Amino acid sequence: MASVIVLGTQWGDEGKGKIVDYLAQKADAVVRYSGGSNAGHTVVVNDIAYKLRLLPSGVLFPDKTNVLGNGVVINPGVVLAEIEGMKEKGISCRNLYISDRAHVVLPYHQRLDELQEAALGANKIGTTKGGIGPCYMDKVARVGIRVCDLMEPAVFAAKLKVNLAAKNAVITKIYGGEPFEYDAVLKEYLGYAERLRPYVTDTGVVLDELFAAAKNVLFEGAQATFLDIDHGTYPYVTSSNPTAGNAATGSGIGPRFIDHVVGVVKAYTTRVGEGPFITELLDSDGPGTQIRETGREYGTVTGRPRRCGWLDGVMLRYSARLNSLDLLAVTRLDILDHMPLLKICVGYEIDGKPIKHIPASLNVLARVQPVYEEFEGWLTDISGVRNYDDLPANAKKYLARLSEAAGVEIGIVSVGPNREQTIVLKDLF
Ligand code: GDP
Ligand code: IMO
Ligand code: MG
Repeated sequence: MASVIVLGTQWGDEGKGKIVDYLAQKADAVVRYSGGSNAGHTVVVNDIAYKLRLLPSGVLFPDKTNVLGNGVVINPGVVLAEIEGMKEKGISCRNLYISDRAHVVLPYHQRLDELQEAALGANKIGTTKGGIGPCYMDKVARVGIRVCDLMEPAVFAAKLKVNLAAKNAVITKIYGGEPFEYDAVLKEYLGYAERLRPYVTDTGVVLDELFAAAKNVLFEGAQATFLDIDHGTYPYVTSSNPTAGNAATGSGIGPRFIDHVVGVVKAYTTRVGEGPFITELLDSDGPGTQIRETGREYGTVTGRPRRCGWLDGVMLRYSARLNSLDLLAVTRLDILDHMPLLKICVGYEIDGKPIKHIPASLNVLARVQPVYEEFEGWLTDISGVRNYDDLPANAKKYLARLSEAAGVEIGIVSVGPNREQTIVLKDLF
């Protein structure tokens, strides 16, 4: 038996969905512990792409347990549409469990997300506008509506009445936005409630039973370390904790149940949304553009072009420390197949002097210069490689330096989106 957290080490979209799906072959359960429909995890099996936002990436195995934990914020319309979409593809979500303690995203959260972003103007975060931040704000302010409330129509109706009055006042008086009508929202959500009811339970108990039966459990991170509300590039972050510590809190288990933490690393760096990015490539026809076009680096949820840059080893070391990573899963190495020259950032400097740690202050961070090491590309198609030994020597050199910079061993190398395009160096289960 083992329980393994799989999380992002950079700014998201590292390929967590692919790695979770791969590992799920030998797992019994997959658990999402944070975030909401801001996530976009693509899993490709037999060339068919499944785009998941709320559903855990183990859902392609209908007999395995899939859990949305208490730390997740649930947009009922989105999750129900995903369940329907899966059914149309012949995949049943009969073993899906949704925490009764998870918070519910309401239409006013989405509108407030849009209005807050517009009001920030040039300082906007670049959110996915899914209402994620405003929903977590309500959770922390202790006025949130939880899934268990939605399951009790009278409780939901009463809470909605109070919340809607308060939110409509903010929407209209502060932002000059359109208010919501109580009856319409009530009807819409009571409709969702009945459709969600079969999936709702105390998921902490479900997990406890899995551990008691010595099952293999995967915890699927959404977002990533540098989008963490505490440890990321605040305020250009999401409103939850994607880092390893929250796998316990966000799913209702004790930390002693966690055995391994796998950090998913994209072989280069991308970011979608605003905020600092030390190794960003701002060219219009250089390596940054080449990576974006070869890698089709456009957001799954919003379609926005992702900002692209060199791999940042300083970020990886920070992620390794914060999450106590014991293995790395390196993805999208194949996207670098056509690059004659590659760089890895191995240190940060300010005014020519090395700095050891990533500064909290964005003002200080803005003065950081990356220190690069250069690597010759391998200029070979590696998408068909299945054994580490068969990788080109230059690819191995690049991976070795990546691992050294992070201070963590590599357990998996992914060379394509399909499940079988995976090289395993170390088995977890
Ligand atoms: P996530 O949010 O971390 O799950 O990542 P996304 O799904 O948003 O973005 C990763 C994209 O890369 C998806 O389209 C995956 O299908 C794809 N992908 C994952 N691993 C690989 C890989 O090794 N090579 C290539 N070419 N694509 C990959
Ligand atoms: P996955 O799980 C990449 C980014 C947004 C924005 C910031 C805040 O697919 O890796 P939010 O809507 O959460 O309030 O937006 O966080 N962001 C992501 N970027 N991948 C994600 O998820 C993200 N989820 C949020 O672009 O910069
Ligand atoms: Mg994604």
